[in-house]
Amino acid sequence: MDQDDPGEAMTELQERSIGGLGVMQLAVGAGLFVYAVWAGFLMPGFRRVPLKLQVPYVPANKRQVQNVLNLLQGRSGKIVDLGSGDGRIVLAAYRRGFYPAVGYELNPWLLRLSRLHAWRAGCAQRVCYLKEDLWKVNLADCSNITVFLAPSVLSLLETKLLAELPNEARVISGRFPFPNWEPTATIGEGLDKVWAYDVGHVRQTMAERAAAFEQGTPV
Ligand SMILES: C[S@@+](CC[C@H](N)C(=O)[O-])C[C@H]1O[C@@H](n2cnc3c(N)ncnc32)[C@H](O)[C@@H]1O
Repeated sequence: MDQDDPGEAMTELQERSIGGLGVMQLAVGAGLFVYAVWAGFLMPGFRRVPLKLQVPYVPANKRQVQNVLNLLQGRSGKIVDLGSGDGRIVLAAYRRGFYPAVGYELNPWLLRLSRLHAWRAGCAQRVCYLKEDLWKVNLADCSNITVFLAPSVLSLLETKLLAELPNEARVISGRFPFPNWEPTATIGEGLDKVWAYDVGHVRQTMAERAAAFEQGTPV
């Protein structure tokens, strides 16, 4: 073949087929790339969290944040966002008067981004983003909790929250409801829907359900 003839070179290239080894190398390369993005940017800091409890970053949109704030209207005190992402809910809640305003997040990139957003908003010393596993923090002193997590972890989170939160606490869940709790209020539609749960009310309804079950008249 004349190496200088681009037409011939093209034909030769087209005639060559990728062998099995080539396909395997491509697949391994693609797999490593996906893993590097996952481990390096999306889920760093999650090595010690069991796979079934890992929830990826999907930020709340403006309407969802607004719905959260609407369901917190009239309340005050400490607020905690469990899995705070880029910190937008914590910052918005602080601007509505919630203090202390705390976000727990494991992804160091998102923590840096949160602090940058807070600094740009002039709230760097007022809001707090901590690198903590949400399953390991104690929530006994929290009166307002927000969560935008996956449905697969909400049942387990119900148990943790009921064990730790005071009766006067309100829990706000975005995108997905808690599977076994009765909401006090809801707002929004579809993926923008947000549920509010008053912990005292949840405990009461759970106790009533358990009593009815024991008497053979489940509600
Ligand atoms: C769906 S995003 C929600 C982010 C933010 N709350 C918002 O609504 O914009 C869930 C976040 O939880 C974080 N996360 C998941 N599991 C966590 C854990 N065990 N401890 C701390 N953060 C966690 C993820 O890194 C991700 O940023």
